[in-house]
Amino acid sequence: MSGIDKLTKKGIQNIPAYIPGRTAESVKEKYKLDKVLKLASNENQYGVSPKAVEAMVKAATEANIYPDPFCIQLRKKIGKKFGFDDSGDNVIISQGGCGIISLLGEVFITEGDEMIYCDPTFGAYGGACKRNGGVVVRVPVTEDQLYDLDGIYKAITEKTKMIFICNPNNPTGTAVDSEALKAFIHKVPKNIIVVVDEAYIEFATDPKVKSMVSEISDDVNLIIIKTFSKLYGMAGVRVGYSLMNKELHGVLQKATTVFVAGRIALAGVMAAMDDEEFVTSTIEGIRQGREYITKELSLLGWKVWESHTNFLYADSGYQTAALANELEKYGLIIRGNFDYSRITIGTMEQNKDMIAIIKKVIEEGNVPKKE
Ligand SMILES: Cc1ncc(COP(=O)(O)O)c(C=O)c1O
Repeated sequence: MSGIDKLTKKGIQNIPAYIPGRTAESVKEKYKLDKVLKLASNENQYGVSPKAVEAMVKAATEANIYPDPFCIQLRKKIGKKFGFDDSGDNVIISQGGCGIISLLGEVFITEGDEMIYCDPTFGAYGGACKRNGGVVVRVPVTEDQLYDLDGIYKAITEKTKMIFICNPNNPTGTAVDSEALKAFIHKVPKNIIVVVDEAYIEFATDPKVKSMVSEISDDVNLIIIKTFSKLYGMAGVRVGYSLMNKELHGVLQKATTVFVAGRIALAGVMAAMDDEEFVTSTIEGIRQGREYITKELSLLGWKVWESHTNFLYADSGYQTAALANELEKYGLIIRGNFDYSRITIGTMEQNKDMIAIIKKVIEEGNVPKKE
């Protein structure tokens, strides 16, 4: 024993190591399968924008040169898209949405600070809080699997430093009404930072589900997180961004890693932003897939919550983990480690294959029902 634990920050000592989800390769090998359909990580199954690929290939020839240290060109382009001035000083670029979540913990959370969010939600929030000695306050989602804004408001104490709202929420796919969220943002005491994670919001086609970017002003400590990983199909490239007022930006930009995004990544995401065709067809494909899967699973007697994302959350009536394990034997990976099943929406062909596998597994009758 080297006693390295004693040298490590207390927040780090107490957190468990991250356990990644199963890969298609490991499931293929385990069950000796030729084909595995992985619909477990909410990746974009429509691929990557061809324009982005072309730009990345071109940029690869200049990989010997450092990229723009502060991503200013991308920040300006994003700022302009969302109606800010052309300084880029309302935009932080990070290594995926996960990067800004970590940065927020590092910059704002100190020993004993409380962070409130609903449960279940995206796992990264809790890690960012605990690594920095903060205390997580979890408020259960409502019976409708919605973020409980009233519950969060009631949980505020004088130690509350930050509130995370995942909208639409991962893993439930549900989204809160935008008027209610707007009212919540303006009601929260001004000394609290409100973070709205909109990683999936572009998939929402319901007019009641709106981005909160319009609520950013000097009067609110509001940060909106977005990512190129989902709609733009660039999860492997690792670029996320967040929007906020200039004061918050000034603090976070100082703490951001210099050269946070590489040359290839920057070229790729900037080209992807201009590929309207890819974006529109992805949104339409997801909308159709969402309808199709919801209908098919409902016919099987599953309860499917209304999703505003590229995945669905559903109660099959079977034991969730056992169902996911059994599906893997037939070459389908979904997420089975929440209360209910979370399934990523794929291309129509994948969706049909997925439904066929689910039907087969249920017919086989090897999955125990819930008590
Ligand atoms: C709600 C939510 N926020 C943020 C992210 C971060 O994604 P990335 O780091 O790939 O941008 C994810 C990824 O699954 C997510 O589900």
